Amino acid sequence: MKGLNQMKINQEELKKAAGEASIKYVEDGMKIGLGSGSTVYWLIQALGQYIKDGGKIEGIPSSEQTQRWAAEAGVPLTTFSKVEQLDVTIDGADEVDKNLQLIKGGGGALFREKIIAAAAKTLIIIVDETKKVKQLGRFPLPVEVLPFGWEVTANRISKLGGKPELRKKDGDIYRSDNGNYILDCSFSYIADPAILESQLKNIVGVVETGLFVNMADKVIVGKLDGLEVIE
Ligand code: 5RP
Repeated sequence: MKGLNQMKINQEELKKAAGEASIKYVEDGMKIGLGSGSTVYWLIQALGQYIKDGGKIEGIPSSEQTQRWAAEAGVPLTTFSKVEQLDVTIDGADEVDKNLQLIKGGGGALFREKIIAAAAKTLIIIVDETKKVKQLGRFPLPVEVLPFGWEVTANRISKLGGKPELRKKDGDIYRSDNGNYILDCSFSYIADPAILESQLKNIVGVVETGLFVNMADKVIVGKLDGLEVIE
């Protein structure tokens, strides 16, 4: 048990190292997409310090949780009604392969995360080394679906080889910040992320998928023996 606790402490430190390292790519005047999750928490703490030191940036958060953290850390926020393009988006991931393809959405924020990723000139991913995989798919792929008819949508995903499970939280059906359901779909392994992404997006009822194909520019990996940057 002690070993497990130690592993969790180490993993948190690696997330912190990756989150803090990403601040190197932040410059005054930038509009920044703020991802979601426990690794992004450390980015937000570092951005809070950047602001305290006199830096000037504005962020667009991808979740209500990120919005709260940013407010607590004193990171100024803006919206897409004022900003057309983001300079950089920094976000975590659940899996990353060597081609920088990603599975995201473990925290349920995949739809807004994809919007801030697509709106950015550069997408930087921050992870600890447990997220690096040879092939995507060990982590069940989160797929955001419309609540209406979700059973039909789930059936169609099954026909693609996935095993969709409706996400629950504290015994209730989980709802994303957009009010939708999440199906966590086990595919075991994903042979071709681009093909699966397009097949899933063709299913009526699928709002968005956690596959981020050809979107990431750089991945900062916190490792026990230091930082690795994949690009
Ligand atoms: C949330 C996400 C997160 O980026 C992903 O789940 C990684 O989270 P963490 O940094 O807590 O491991 O996609 O929707």
